[in-house]
Amino acid sequence: MGRVEGKVAFITGGARGQGRSHAVRLAKEGADIIVVDLADHIPNIAYPSATEEDLAETVRQVEALDRRIIATKADVRDRGALKAAIDDGVAQLGKLDIVVANAGICVVEDWENTSVDVWDQTIGTNLTGVWNTVQLTSRHLIDNGGGSIIMTSSAAGIKGLPFLSAYVAAKHGVVGLMRAYATELAEYSVRVNTIHPTGVNTPMGEMGNAFGPLLEAHPTVGGMLANLLPIQATEPLDQSNAVLFLASDESRFITSLEMTVDAGNTQY
Ligand SMILES: NC(=O)c1ccc[n+]([C@@H]2O[C@H](COP(=O)([O-])OP(=O)(O)OC[C@H]3O[C@@H](n4cnc5c(N)ncnc54)[C@H](O)[C@@H]3O)[C@@H](O)[C@H]2O)c1
Repeated sequence: MGRVEGKVAFITGGARGQGRSHAVRLAKEGADIIVVDLADHIPNIAYPSATEEDLAETVRQVEALDRRIIATKADVRDRGALKAAIDDGVAQLGKLDIVVANAGICVVEDWENTSVDVWDQTIGTNLTGVWNTVQLTSRHLIDNGGGSIIMTSSAAGIKGLPFLSAYVAAKHGVVGLMRAYATELAEYSVRVNTIHPTGVNTPMGEMGNAFGPLLEAHPTVGGMLANLLPIQATEPLDQSNAVLFLASDESRFITSLEMTVDAGNTQY
């Protein structure tokens, strides 16, 4: 018996990286999956964008586990497209138990060079996109008699990591959203928690190189990026194991928790 046997999970940003890892981890433990991803070019980011082939690979990996998966290309900022993907997935798979609001982008810029475009894009995807995801899925969880929402924040949702002002603002905003939803949805047995990764070995993780010149110019803040445990970055599976725990009934009385999976990064 899998740890989420018979449950249905909706995951945003599932084409690759942590989102794909969450889909595969949950499927391995018996869940069917609904996944969305932009799977298209993203302006301003300093790492490659995900593709339709990436999304197809997630489908292949979940199906190889003999689980069902409904995958749709959709932008979490586009409420119409997102709602259609959610409602269609729930109609096909019958219900919804788990929501993982994971899609995100990251642009490294100092405070002065953060453009209006990057601000709007980051808040739009990493905060409004999470709100869209949870607002449009919560009724399905309530109709199902309860469920678990996991929002992906960051170490940058707990402390003010340097050269990420829009990202830090959005990821702190996600914590506020988590607390508000945890309060309002508790009476329906819907639990709401955040995970807070330190660096993760994904394509987004490559943007770590963009810190180099800024840290050379501002060396006093460099220590904030270091982990206590002796590693550079976690693996997607480390984050997925936390998501699996929060998604499963093993955490049935855990709500409104900021779960750090950060190798001690936020201790500094
Ligand atoms: N990689 C890290 O070091 C790190 C650290 C802390 C937190 N995070 C967070 O973890 C989450 C997953 O990131 P990742 O490391 O897997 O990165 P990633 O870039 O590999 O994957 C992110 C996915 O989100 C998708 N996406 C982006 N914008 C979207 C939109 N508007 N609509 C739908 N899909 C969209 C991308 O296409 C991509 O497939 C993000 O929220 C990120 O902020 C990452």
